Amino acid sequence: MEMRQVRVERYGPPEALAVADAPTPRPGRGEVLVRVEAAGVSMGDARMRSGRFPPGFGLLARLAIGLRGPRAGVLGSTFSGVVAEVGDEVSGLAPGDEVAGMTGVRMGCHAEYAVVPATVAVPKPAGLSHPDAAGVLFGGTTALYFLRDRASLRPGGTVLVNGASGSVGSAAVQLAVILGGTVTAVCSAANRELVMRLGAQRCIDYHQTPVAGLTERFDVVFDAVGNLSRADGLRLLSPDGVLVLAVASLLDMVRGGRRVATGSAPERGDDVAELLALAEAGRLDPVVTVVGGLSALPDAYRLIDGGHKVGNLVVLPGR
Ligand SMILES: NC(=O)c1ccc[n+]([C@@H]2O[C@H](COP(=O)([O-])OP(=O)(O)OC[C@H]3O[C@@H](n4cnc5c(N)ncnc54)[C@H](OP(=O)(O)O)[C@@H]3O)[C@@H](O)[C@H]2O)c1
Repeated sequence: MEMRQVRVERYGPPEALAVADAPTPRPGRGEVLVRVEAAGVSMGDARMRSGRFPPGFGLLARLAIGLRGPRAGVLGSTFSGVVAEVGDEVSGLAPGDEVAGMTGVRMGCHAEYAVVPATVAVPKPAGLSHPDAAGVLFGGTTALYFLRDRASLRPGGTVLVNGASGSVGSAAVQLAVILGGTVTAVCSAANRELVMRLGAQRCIDYHQTPVAGLTERFDVVFDAVGNLSRADGLRLLSPDGVLVLAVASLLDMVRGGRRVATGSAPERGDDVAELLALAEAGRLDPVVTVVGGLSALPDAYRLIDGGHKVGNLVVLPGR
């Protein structure tokens, strides 16, 4: 049986991508074959497609994921779909089950079908659409990990989110509010209405007011853009505050520090289930735009490369 997929052979621009036919894979032991109804297109995919990484990571990243192009070939690390076939030694999942999840460095979701470890296929709540399920996971897992686990945000805490309208930022605004925090959002004026609707108490237009020049102090400063220096971020913190650098350079990571959170957010099934449940309950808006079918991937990447994507982009491989 054949399926359609989008492969990236060499790092490069969105225009180099093309939809191609490939044999539909079969699930091995402990794996399931998922018919992908919706797949996220994220900044993570854009980095893997272009070979562009935060300062200091270029060579290290290419050694890990591929020198001239991503070894994974088919990108896309968040999916929502239907189990089509179950491999040996899989229990608790059967053909027809609706599942969503994340595939990490294995990627492979920009295809009509993807083989994934059964352990990452989390039941999708019936009341949540496939696009919303696939869309909520990239930014959601990142924001949840940094706010709850690294910054230990408590009720009453004050949070500054730089880049509040993007994938990570829009989730950070909402999850900070769910955790009991009060959010000051930083974004362009065009996205003010969105971030206020998501629960921010105040919105700062970075074109008018540079973040580094703010005089107040926050319990969590969450930089989801990568343009806030470590020194400026630390200066904006209250005495016990935590600075989250989601786009840390290698130097920032090596320096670390008790009050600075860097690194990669893990992809945990429990977090995926929690985010799906919050989205189904209407407490977490996935802020999803469906861009089209697999042939719309270049359009999605152009939006991401522009640096002003709003929320999350999703493609529907079956379309
Ligand atoms: N550490 C981790 O585990 C982890 C996980 C996921 C992502 N990340 C990283 O996090 C970063 C954000 O990812 P994303 O998916 O959220 O990106 P995104 O959806 O493309 O969002 C980018 C956002 O940045 C805002 N922005 C652009 N210029 C700005 C400026 N000068 N000041 C303030 N905001 C500005 C844009 O808002 P406007 O349109 O309003 O300008 C846009 O909303 C990426 O670099 C990604 O690689 C890290």
